[in-house]
Amino acid sequence: MCGIIGIVSGQPVADRLVDSLKRLEYRGYDSAGIATLSDAGLDRRRAEGKLVNLETLLKTEPLGGTIGIGHTRWATHGAPTVRNAHPHATPRVAVVHNGIIENFRELRTSLEADGYVFESETDTETIALIVTRALDRGAEPVEAVRQILPQLEGAFALAFVFSGEENLIVGARRGSPLAVGIGKGEMFLGSDAIALSPFTDAVRYLEDGDFVVLDRSQAKIYDVDGLAVERPVRRSVGKAFYVDKGNHRHFMQKEIYEQPEVIGHTLGSFVDMTTGRTRVPNGQSLDFKDIKRMAISACGTGYLAGLTGRYYFERHARIACDIDVASEFRYRESPLGDVDLALFVSQSGETADTLASLRYAKSMGLKTASVVNVQESTIARESDVVLPTLAGPEIGVASTKAFTCQLMALAALSIRAGVDRGVISPDEELAMTRALAEGPRMVAEAFKLEGQIEILARELATYRHALYLGRGLSYPLALEGALKLKEISYIHAEGYAAGELKHGPIALIDETMPVIVVAPHDRMFEKTVSNMQEVAARGGRIILITDEKGARAGAVSAMETLILPDMPEILTPIAFAVPLQMLAYHTAVHMGTDVDQPRNLAKSVTVE
Ligand code: AGP
Repeated sequence: MCGIIGIVSGQPVADRLVDSLKRLEYRGYDSAGIATLSDAGLDRRRAEGKLVNLETLLKTEPLGGTIGIGHTRWATHGAPTVRNAHPHATPRVAVVHNGIIENFRELRTSLEADGYVFESETDTETIALIVTRALDRGAEPVEAVRQILPQLEGAFALAFVFSGEENLIVGARRGSPLAVGIGKGEMFLGSDAIALSPFTDAVRYLEDGDFVVLDRSQAKIYDVDGLAVERPVRRSVGKAFYVDKGNHRHFMQKEIYEQPEVIGHTLGSFVDMTTGRTRVPNGQSLDFKDIKRMAISACGTGYLAGLTGRYYFERHARIACDIDVASEFRYRESPLGDVDLALFVSQSGETADTLASLRYAKSMGLKTASVVNVQESTIARESDVVLPTLAGPEIGVASTKAFTCQLMALAALSIRAGVDRGVISPDEELAMTRALAEGPRMVAEAFKLEGQIEILARELATYRHALYLGRGLSYPLALEGALKLKEISYIHAEGYAAGELKHGPIALIDETMPVIVVAPHDRMFEKTVSNMQEVAARGGRIILITDEKGARAGAVSAMETLILPDMPEILTPIAFAVPLQMLAYHTAVHMGTDVDQPRNLAKSVTVE
């Protein structure tokens, strides 16, 4: 994750930009930088590594100016060097960016053809140059930004300052968070309330697609259709910034909305976004060439991520995968003789059963690797290889963003394994990592279903049971959708492999049993449609979650159909998780349960 800050004021800003960046270092600290506009024009100071290096530089080379932007970087495109550090700038404009621009290579080619010269490897510099080109072609600053936003594919939060414009900051949000801080005679723009906390507790959170024009006295916000909108002012609550709900009712909803940003940053751990090549994070030693069989073990949602990972590894790397819930694995005393790697998945890194399974595998002499969200956790410390998810703190007991980050990590790692084992060619690797880079955008697209889901959830809340069906990559999702519903709404829900329906569960089907079917138009779609027809023929009420191609194929009258964009198959578990999360969330809200802290549950089960 990266952190961004902008200040337009009548007072000097350099020190305050740095003060804000200090609070954002939790988002990443590969490099940091600020840009200000003063009588000397637009100027930058950037430093590699922790923020203290930037502070040291500013002591010897201070920056004046009452307007500026700042950035603390978690590297996705290009090594964490000064050359790649934000802000990126030309003599006319400086920009800071949080997110991933998927089509930056095409944009770079077009800009170079027009004579624009790059100095970095980053996608962000493309934004600085494409705005410069618009300015060079006569556009005013605000118009120049408006013009280029539709050309950017991907997720971003942006802040711009312009040469000659000492009372103007422009910002834009798509998929990564951005908020306006309201000051007295000055305005602020930052990644979140934490960034703004040194200056104000009056915050307006921008919505996806919003565009904002700031001067010292006001913030004009425009929605995705360019219409002026008011976003409510929220009062941030002091030190709780680090666990601030933002403009959401519950942490779970906030964390659902953080997914585009955090899956993008998790992807950046496993893929060098400049070259499109996969990598084992932090240069750790994990070569899949000689790994023929893996044992995967986890609990709850982590187990369901691992179950999805089995499909990824068997399909992309031809590695056979045994998988079991950790509470069984640890006592089965499986011989593990032909297992080459034991893989564990855990958000907290403290789950007792998963930790015990890790220790059992180590006692059997196995190499161990763990996908974990808390890097200083016990499971991380005791694993040979640590595979980080960068979901940030997950407060809601029902896991959402950690799950999709686990899926992104496992998907990318399975490609790495396929390359190591000669199953995936270099060209196939590029195509697959490019597909994964579309993940943040596809998840952001799924958010558009929330209104439809909220209405559907009112009906689902009237039932006492629900059945979730899926095949192939959607089978673990069916299980996860059922887990989400039951753990926060207390409605009994079961997930089933759709092909298993006729082996018993179909006896449950009547008008009192809603059936949620997860069916992207993938290689299993036709088979799942025939299962849906079996359900419809018996009066079952179907909620179909599919994509545009699946919706066009139709073939079954569903009570409701939720339609996501068509997307590469590898992405479907990640994007299709969102409607399942939202359906459970809004059902629970209607039922008035404690969504963030459901009864009988805990965020981390550190006992057997
Ligand atoms: C998921 O929504 C649940 N909160 C629970 O199943 C959780 O996934 C499980 O307890 C494992 O936790 P961990 O990922 O921290 O190991």
